[in-house]
Amino acid sequence: MEILVTGGLGYIGSHTVIELAPLANTIHIIDNLSNSTEQVFYKLKELLPQSNLVFHYGDMRDNIFLDTVFKNKIDAVVHFAALKAVGQSMEKPLDYYQVNVGGSVNLLLAMKKAGVKKFIFSSSACVYGDQGGIYKETDPRAAVNNYGKTKATTEQIIEDYAKSDPTFEGIILRYFNPVGAHPSGLIGEDPNGIPDNLVPFIQKVVTGKLEVLNVFGNDYISNDGTAIRDYIHVVDLAKGHVSALNYLKPGLDIFNLGTGRGTTVLEVVSAYESVIGRKINYRIVGRRDGDVNTLQSIPTKANTVLGWYAEKSIEDMCRDSWNFISNRKA
Ligand code: NAD
Ligand code: WQD
Repeated sequence: MEILVTGGLGYIGSHTVIELAPLANTIHIIDNLSNSTEQVFYKLKELLPQSNLVFHYGDMRDNIFLDTVFKNKIDAVVHFAALKAVGQSMEKPLDYYQVNVGGSVNLLLAMKKAGVKKFIFSSSACVYGDQGGIYKETDPRAAVNNYGKTKATTEQIIEDYAKSDPTFEGIILRYFNPVGAHPSGLIGEDPNGIPDNLVPFIQKVVTGKLEVLNVFGNDYISNDGTAIRDYIHVVDLAKGHVSALNYLKPGLDIFNLGTGRGTTVLEVVSAYESVIGRKINYRIVGRRDGDVNTLQSIPTKANTVLGWYAEKSIEDMCRDSWNFISNRKA
C-alpha cells in the first residue's frame, strides 16, 4: 500500500509512520516544518532502514503543491497536519481555521481529483467540550475553544463529503491526551519554549530547564483535587491508526482513542517521580482558564469494532518520556 501521512514529522504523525511502515510500500510524508524539524525524517529513516520514506516539504494551504504530491500513486491518506495550541487558537482563529479546516478541504479536493478514497482524520476529544467528562462517540460535538471548533467543523465537512460519495472510506479518530515517546528514545515531544501541556512541562522541570511545575487547581472533583485526563501512550495511539486503516470500508465512522482510565495531575507527577527516582518540584496554583474537571474516553467502540486496545500504563508513558528526554540531553 502507498500511504500519504500529512504532518508526518510531528509528534503523533512520526510515531504513526513507524507503526504504518510494515503495511506500506512507500510512505509519503507532507510537512511544512512549522512545528517539527527535518531531523525527525532522518530519525525515521534510521528506525526504518527497510522502508521507502519520501518527504515532501510543503504546506496544506497550497493546492498546487498538494496536486503535485498526488501525482504519486497513493492509496490511503492519514491526515495529522494541523495547528494544535488551544490558547493560540483563541488569539489567531483565522490561522487555525485556514490551516485546520482549509488545509483539510484542500486535501480532500486533491484526493478527489486523484481518485483516492481512503482517509483517516486526526480529531480530538476537544470536540466534546464540557458536557460531563466521560465521552462516547455518539455524544454531540460541543467544542468550546477555537481549536476544538476547527476539529468539529472539519468532522462535519468530512461527514458531508462522505455522504456525497458512497465509495469514500473515512475514519475520524478522536484522541484523548497523547503522551510518552517511542521506546527507542529517538523520537518524542519536546517543544521549544514553555510548554502548554503537562508531560512536556514535567520534562522541562526534570531536566532543569524550568524550575517548578504549576499544578493548575486542586479544587476539582477527584481523589486528590486535581483534574482528571485520559492519558494515552503515543505508541498505542499510533497503533490505533493501523487498526483503523485495516478496518476502512465505504462510509464514515468515528472512534475514540483513549485508555478509558482517568488519571489526575498529581498521579502523573507521582508516576514520573517513581520512574526517575526523585521528587519533582511542583506547586499548586489556581485553575487554568478553560480547563475542565474530567476528560475521559469510553473506548469500547474501538475495542470491539477495531479490535484495538491501549496497552501501556501511565508508568510506561512516563518512562518513555524520560528515556526520550534523557537521550536528548546527552
Ligand atoms: P504536531 O504539531 O507535533 O504535528 C503536526 C505536524 O503538522 C507538524 O510537524 C507541523 O509542522 C505540521 N504542519 C502544521 N501545519 C502545517 C501545514 N499548514 N502544512 C503542512 N504541515 C503542517 O502535533 P501532534 O501532536 O502530532 O498532532 C497531530 C494531529 O493530532 C493534529 O491534527 C492535532 O490537532 C491532533 N491531536 C493532537 C493531540 C495532542 O494532544 N497532541 C490531541 C488530539 C488531537
Ligand atoms: C492536562 C492536565 C491541566 C500543564 C490539551 C488540549 C486537547 C489535546 C491535548 C489536542 C490539565 C494540567 C497542565 C501544567 C498542569 N490536544 N496541567 N500544569 O488541556 O487536557 O488537553 O492537550 O487536541 O485538545 O486541550 O492537556 O496536557 O495541557 O493538561 O497542572 O503546566 O494537566 O490543567 O488538568 P489538556 P494538558
